[in-house]
Amino acid sequence: MAAKLIKGAEISKQIREEIAVEIEELKGKHGLTPGLATILVGDDPGSKVYVGQKEKACDKLGIYSARTDIPADTSEEDLLGLVEKFNNDPKIHGILVQLPLPKHIDATRVIYAIEPDKDVDCFHPVNVGKLMIGTARFLPCTPHGIMELLKRSGTDTSGKHVVVVGRSNIVGKPIANLMLQRSPGGNATVTLCHTGTKDLAAFTKMADILIVAIGQPKAITADMVKDGVVVIDVGVNRIGKTPEGKGILAGDVDFDSVQEKAAAITPVPGGVGPMTITMLMKNTVEAAKATIGTK
Ligand code: GUN
Repeated sequence: MAAKLIKGAEISKQIREEIAVEIEELKGKHGLTPGLATILVGDDPGSKVYVGQKEKACDKLGIYSARTDIPADTSEEDLLGLVEKFNNDPKIHGILVQLPLPKHIDATRVIYAIEPDKDVDCFHPVNVGKLMIGTARFLPCTPHGIMELLKRSGTDTSGKHVVVVGRSNIVGKPIANLMLQRSPGGNATVTLCHTGTKDLAAFTKMADILIVAIGQPKAITADMVKDGVVVIDVGVNRIGKTPEGKGILAGDVDFDSVQEKAAAITPVPGGVGPMTITMLMKNTVEAAKATIGTK
């Protein structure tokens, strides 16, 4: 039987409508416009697209957006100076430095320089630590999006076996952590698999909920999952072009075969992807609210 689709594009739209109401209230009652600073270093085409999407989302929702594009040969000191400027700018509540950064810049140093209260990516070690002990002020955007997809598709996680494939700092490690927190949307038994895992399929077959973020097209196939699994596919891989020159995307999961066995699955595109920017908008609004103590 074909799986139910977990439609991130629709859920994302719903959440953006909720955020728009919050923004109206902040503006009307408190005269406060949430503000997001995005910094793009260099001209990587993929990063340009992502930053453009973030800017557009801000504009649509009425979030003040300060985009700064600087050349690839910008010095680390100059970038740190720019971060400091936004740290001290009261119009700015969230700061996002698009990754990856050019090789001559130490990304860790830049992330450490962002004021934790404005770290809407949730990459600063203070925020990562807070996430770990369950007192986070922000949740990182993609994991937060995954939590919302599970919640709003009616997937209960409590007591379930969640298997995460991929140990990145942006997705794998934080989502594994969130899933094991003793709180709604968590309370799962978690297994975190990675490139060092021997016999990956033995673990993925045990999953009630399978979350995959490895950046390898169609790596998880039907023989690696059990009947009735809920699948969250974070991968967005370009696997070719249509005759018209449009990019063809595939997830990390072999959608066609796995959806025959799964109870529910996110499509690619239109699954996790649209949620990430939506949760960035949510974090920016939360950061703005915190400045007036309405949180
Ligand atoms: N590059 C790829 N994903 C992200 C993200 O979520 N935040 C930032 N800052 N850079 C990224």
